[in-house]
Amino acid sequence: MKKILLSGIQPTGRAHIGNYFGAMKQFVELQNSLKYQCYFMIADYHGLNFVQNAEEMKDNISNLALDYVAIGLDSEKSVIFKQSDVPAHTELAWIFDTITTMPYLTRAHAFKDAELKNKEISVGTFNYPMLMAADILLYNTDIVPVGQDQKQHIEIARDTAEKFNRIFGETFKIPEALIIKNVAVVPGTDGRKMSKSYGNTIPLFAEDQEIEKCVMSIVTDSGSGLPENVYNIHKLFRPEAELIKIYADKAGKYKALKDILIEDIKTFISPIRERRNQLEKNKDSISEILKKGGEKAKSKTETKLLEIKKKIGVY
Ligand code: AMP
Ligand code: TRP
Repeated sequence: MKKILLSGIQPTGRAHIGNYFGAMKQFVELQNSLKYQCYFMIADYHGLNFVQNAEEMKDNISNLALDYVAIGLDSEKSVIFKQSDVPAHTELAWIFDTITTMPYLTRAHAFKDAELKNKEISVGTFNYPMLMAADILLYNTDIVPVGQDQKQHIEIARDTAEKFNRIFGETFKIPEALIIKNVAVVPGTDGRKMSKSYGNTIPLFAEDQEIEKCVMSIVTDSGSGLPENVYNIHKLFRPEAELIKIYADKAGKYKALKDILIEDIKTFISPIRERRNQLEKNKDSISEILKKGGEKAKSKTETKLLEIKKKIGVY
């Protein structure tokens, strides 16, 4: 029996190289290792907390599905699906709500950040970790490849599994996060974590001109002589042994270093962008992948949900 891997991304805008190096690259490598039964999800119900416009949601979902396939996720090897196609996710999230306390969830980073900003958050945002726990635990998942920012959510899923098991008897496997240390937090063009909400991203499928613009906007504040923000992004695209030499040769020549980075990013992006453009011509096949994946995922969850319902006494 293969171990089970599950991960997901929210369809909330264009994927960026932080998503790629922090998570998506691992999705492809782990899929191709053939060691795992893989589930790759489009977390559309999570995304609904942020995107509340049908056209935009629809576009985002089909764009993320295209991204998945363009980077090499393969529906022959993995189940690629959207969360909303599998009702058991939201059903189990409700069950978890009933065994989880409010004070416990108020300790989640997303909630604390919102509180600090004095923002009123939706119940969906507050409950976000419960839906994520359901996503993971429904499939008896062993590993969850993600970036560092998701670590706490996986810990919440583990706690929730343990709590349920304690109350109702052994039901859920305890999942592990898989976080690759040197790409756990990919920096953006301003040196902070790359994130859609900071506007500091380099889109994964950026056009050449866009790549140039993004790189030129990288903040080159360098007390140490090394333009750290440029270097830290460059590390993703070239082995450090080569970079050290290049950055020594061109010390202080920020424009020249940025030009090299631009070329390296273009070399990396152009084949996957080309592949994505080709795939985009046949969007029906992408919808078909999601439809089939949804059916597969749904049938997987049915036995588990039944087991859960028996445990809680509603079946
Ligand atoms: P999201 O766009 O928030 O749905 O994130 C999708 C995946 O990308 C998650 O596994 C995140 O942890 C990961 N991720 C997002 N931003 C970064 C970043 N700057 N560095 C590393 N991983 C990231
Ligand atoms: N919360 C994750 C993010 O923002 C997305 C996600 C939803 C997820 N469900 C998941 C990731 C289950 C891993 C496993 O990146």
